Amino acid sequence: MIETNRRSMAPSLTLTGVWVAFTTAEAPYTALRNVTLAVTGGEWLAIVGPNGGGKSTLARVMAGLCPVSRGNIACDVPVAFVWQNPDAQIVGDTVREDIQFGLEATGAAASDMDSIVRDVLAQVGLNVAPDTPTAALSGGQQQLLATASSLALQPALIVFDEATSMLDPAARVRVLEAAKRLHNGGTTIVWMTQWLEELAYADRVIALADGAIAYEGDPRAFLYGDDPPETDATNSSLTDCMSPCERLGFEVPFTVRLTRELLRLGAQFSPLPMDPEQWARCLESR
Ligand SMILES: Nc1ncnc2c1ncn2[C@@H]1O[C@H](COP(=O)(O)OP(=O)(O)O)[C@@H](O)[C@H]1O
Ligand SMILES: [Mg+2]
Repeated sequence: MIETNRRSMAPSLTLTGVWVAFTTAEAPYTALRNVTLAVTGGEWLAIVGPNGGGKSTLARVMAGLCPVSRGNIACDVPVAFVWQNPDAQIVGDTVREDIQFGLEATGAAASDMDSIVRDVLAQVGLNVAPDTPTAALSGGQQQLLATASSLALQPALIVFDEATSMLDPAARVRVLEAAKRLHNGGTTIVWMTQWLEELAYADRVIALADGAIAYEGDPRAFLYGDDPPETDATNSSLTDCMSPCERLGFEVPFTVRLTRELLRLGAQFSPLPMDPEQWARCLESR
């Protein structure tokens, strides 16, 4: 049978042996250490790591905005970025101008602009008039605008660098859901975050520690450990051993801690939930 699944597509962005060192007043600082990764067309790749782990440096390397000390980057597709700091990204004086700025470069028809602007604002749930000055937006609203402006471009690959860091929980879910809709439409997502519950959306996770890849694999295995529950009738390895996420010093999400506690008491979960929504689905299917 011919494999037509979009997740089987070739790598669209590849980093090989990338090192980034910054010169500082004291000593050179190595922000990325020998990072090799390939982003596969159609996947949702989460990149997690603590503050200072190297996520934003990696995002800038992917954008070609940060020179590498060693290594290579290859990219075959148009990439859009949503930066951690929206100030660095917002170019328009008004909300409408900011969304249209990138769109004009793509050759979108002038008659489509209004409906695109309304559509992307609705997608991220930014309820402001298109003529609102961008300087009047809060940090969280600017983050939503930066996301809306990127969504408008319908890029093949979009890198979100902590795009939800300034958002309240409801807005966080809206941005994740907007990214999910793009992903369902075939867009490749690279989602950088410190929030491990956001791994529920990912096909694959890479954990960065001190600028190096410390884990690469399945998000569920990262959170719960490597043994799939169906091969382990007692679930003992899931409850007694440290998961990769714990070994690397990440805070285990509440949903995962709760589930592990219930596994210890004999409950069964399939699949193991990674966020409250998956937990709710487990309960519904009982
Ligand atoms: N231009 C720079 N000059 C010196 N050090 C930097 C520079 N940019 C980032 N760093 C350092 O590199 C490390 C990784 O930072 P960053 O990539 O922003 O991590 P993260 O996004 O995961 O929080 C941090 O310790 C940061 O201080
Ligand atoms: Mg960062």
